[in-house]
Amino acid sequence: MSSFIAESLSRVKPSPTIAVTNKAAELKAAGKDVIGLGAGEPDFDTPDNIKQAAIAAIQSGKTKYTAVDGIPDLKKAICAKFKRENGLDYKPSQVTVGTGGKQVLYNALMATLNPGDEVLIPAPYWVSYPDMVLLAGGSPVVVEAGMETGFKLTAEALRGAITPKTKWLIFNSPSNPTGAGYTRAELKALTDVLLDFPHVWVMTDDMYEHLAFAPYEFCTPAEVEPKLYDRTLTVNGVSKAYAMTGWRIGYAAGPEMVIKAIAKIQSQSTSNPSSISQWAAVEALNGPQDYIPMSREVFQRRRDLVVSMLNQAAGIHCPTPEGAFYVYPSIAGCIGKTAPSGRKIETDEDFVTELLESEGVAVVQGAAFGLSPFFRISYATSDAALEDACSRIQRFCAALK
Ligand SMILES: Cc1ncc(COP(=O)(O)O)c(C=O)c1O
Repeated sequence: MSSFIAESLSRVKPSPTIAVTNKAAELKAAGKDVIGLGAGEPDFDTPDNIKQAAIAAIQSGKTKYTAVDGIPDLKKAICAKFKRENGLDYKPSQVTVGTGGKQVLYNALMATLNPGDEVLIPAPYWVSYPDMVLLAGGSPVVVEAGMETGFKLTAEALRGAITPKTKWLIFNSPSNPTGAGYTRAELKALTDVLLDFPHVWVMTDDMYEHLAFAPYEFCTPAEVEPKLYDRTLTVNGVSKAYAMTGWRIGYAAGPEMVIKAIAKIQSQSTSNPSSISQWAAVEALNGPQDYIPMSREVFQRRRDLVVSMLNQAAGIHCPTPEGAFYVYPSIAGCIGKTAPSGRKIETDEDFVTELLESEGVAVVQGAAFGLSPFFRISYATSDAALEDACSRIQRFCAALK
């Protein structure tokens, strides 16, 4: 008998990062001393002015359905943000607001992909991109962007991957999972290639814009190459920028045709994102911005701590990322060794399983992000926990024979 579950679901897997987070939580609940470095969310609390705006929204009755793709005040705040921070001119009619950047990206793919359409995804990639493309009926085309090029896609690799069927390039800088950030020159090299292929659009996921560590400076495709403005969807959100992961507000700006199509999908699925969260996001974007440099400074310090400690672990090589709150160290030097438990480390999945079981440190295997043998650490946790975790990793690596 054929399964009752839709065939489309047989093509996708559940999020491996959520799986690791759940496994760590289970072990913790069972009394094991576990440090979770799997979850990709800031450990800070949402700034108070934002919380107060949400409370005021509740108390003044802003608790009803809103326009499907965002309240006018929020669209206006988003346009002002794009102008102020990215030098990009968008009208409110070119802006859509969704329940997290995740929904916006998903809807954008659902709204544009036909069977056979190809979407270029540089690897290592955020775990959801290929599965979202598959759910939308498209074909993910993974293009390797390895450690030799700083985990960045090169112009040659991009040119070589484009076919007549290519619809989108998904671009993410600073990146989850590597933290790699493209300089203006590196991005320009890619946008120059795209100028030769007018049928290819760019979906840029700028979620980690504000976690860019000096001297590195963030840049985004439509700003670097204004000629791509008419075929770029610029996606961003408040989750990482303002420690608002649970509020679920993301947004995008681009050509009206695509923005309208995204709203159509939303109108027949979730309708508007939470009215209260939208008012909180208005305050996040229009209110005081001091949370951003404060958190950036803390994350930069933690990056330096983690990179330095991991590079002292036998068999690990950890490049220094330009942004986000992740590192993506290579464990090539650990592959083929044997742990004290007797388990041979043949893959990065073996490495993370053994690390969790023997030292109680939860990280995510590189295989989940499309490039092995590596693992990802999210350093969005306290300095003390990070030091402890990195010491355990050093001890774990020293014990591999
Ligand atoms: C690269 C990237 N894009 C998008 C998202 C989605 O963020 P949200 O749905 O919370 O806005 C995340 C969250 O982990 C991410 O890492």
